[in-house]
Amino acid sequence: MMTFSIHRGRILHFPRPTSAPEHNYQYFSDGILVVRDGLIEYLGEACDFLAENRLNSDDIIHHEGLILPGFIDAHVHYAQVEMIASYGEQLFDWLNNYTFPTEKKFIDRYYAKQQAEFFIAQLFAHGTTTAAVFATVHEHSVDMFFEAAEQYQARMICGKVLMDRFCPDTLRDNPKLGYWQSKELIEHWHHNGRNLYAVTPRFAPTSTPQQLQQAASLLREYPDVYMQTHLSENLNEIKWVKDLFPTSRDYLDVYESAGLLTERSIFGHGVHLCDSELKRLAANNATVACCPSSNLFLGSGLFPFHHIKDVGVNIAFASDIGAGTDLSLLANLADAYKICQLQGKSLNVFDSLYHSTQGAAVGLKLTDKIGNLNPGTEADFIEVNPTAFPMLQQRVERATSLESELFAVTTLGDERVINRTYVMGKCVFERTTKTE
Ligand code: GUN
Ligand code: ZN
Repeated sequence: MMTFSIHRGRILHFPRPTSAPEHNYQYFSDGILVVRDGLIEYLGEACDFLAENRLNSDDIIHHEGLILPGFIDAHVHYAQVEMIASYGEQLFDWLNNYTFPTEKKFIDRYYAKQQAEFFIAQLFAHGTTTAAVFATVHEHSVDMFFEAAEQYQARMICGKVLMDRFCPDTLRDNPKLGYWQSKELIEHWHHNGRNLYAVTPRFAPTSTPQQLQQAASLLREYPDVYMQTHLSENLNEIKWVKDLFPTSRDYLDVYESAGLLTERSIFGHGVHLCDSELKRLAANNATVACCPSSNLFLGSGLFPFHHIKDVGVNIAFASDIGAGTDLSLLANLADAYKICQLQGKSLNVFDSLYHSTQGAAVGLKLTDKIGNLNPGTEADFIEVNPTAFPMLQQRVERATSLESELFAVTTLGDERVINRTYVMGKCVFERTTKTE
């Protein structure tokens, strides 16, 4: 079916890859975004567009809020949504006491389907239109996820968790089984509609060297699939990896020597990386997913954003639910700011928004499709309401610059400020109640 819509309002995005987002954003105080058949056809000043096109006011959707590209969440576990806010543990005990028992429930296909549908609806309600998602070890957990995503034609990345040791028996696969199941899923889902596959070894401790080798074989066979895993999140984890892989020079080398370090590798966390690891990540054009609320919640450490950026590693923000405490990337940006402050640095709001949209798309090699509002890209965008609730409204009314207003939104905002979410030009979420 042909679709056509014209959106008018304030519009902000980052049209190009950049290391200086504060100097490379495009802002229209009165802009027009035209969408045809799911793609952006035109972006520009309203006065220019209206001078050239005779339109009735009814032909135009007017947005009171600010239009941004949909957020991209670079690392999140859909099966862990129900165990968000689980008390008292750091990484290993949290995995054993909460995560594995929860992921076991996904042996039930119907349960997986319900949770996948809930998760996708919640992503949209939080303004996220693309996510790199861990399913569980169960093959059907990926089927259920992609089936839920394709109902909306959403661009999603997902993969079956590979895990063949140090986990409960019912969550364990083996190198051959994990390989064949992943291969079958790639054949079925990768580039099926907007879906994209990520080979997903959970992390080095729960995969034997043989399993990591099998995962790398898949990357060689299917060079444009992603690889997602965890890296250098927690100090005890790093020690354990050293014991398990005594011949590796560091944590990254476990993945690198197996053949899992590519430009399509997304490494969750990367809190405690040494300079050599950072340089190799940059040289391979790989991406680190920064998970602020998770790193605080599990007490994992302070992500050195400015240092990692200076070395030239791609950075993409992420919620890491269920260790993260908010699916809203805005709430995670507020935590990211505080984490930087604890290291004596301030996180510029343009950096925050860039690495949640265009910068994340740079990492995912998807800037021709998502992360910005350039003509020709897919029409995934959101309308943010900077006056969604009184505390924010009062602060924004006193803001003396765009930067100050945006900083208030990223510091105080969460899903309450998401007014509408559009996927391929179609409204998939609309907030109906105003927050008091
Ligand atoms: N490391 C290995 N698995 C996980 C997980 O599910 N969450 C987090 N935060 N870290 C992990
Ligand atoms: Zn994670």
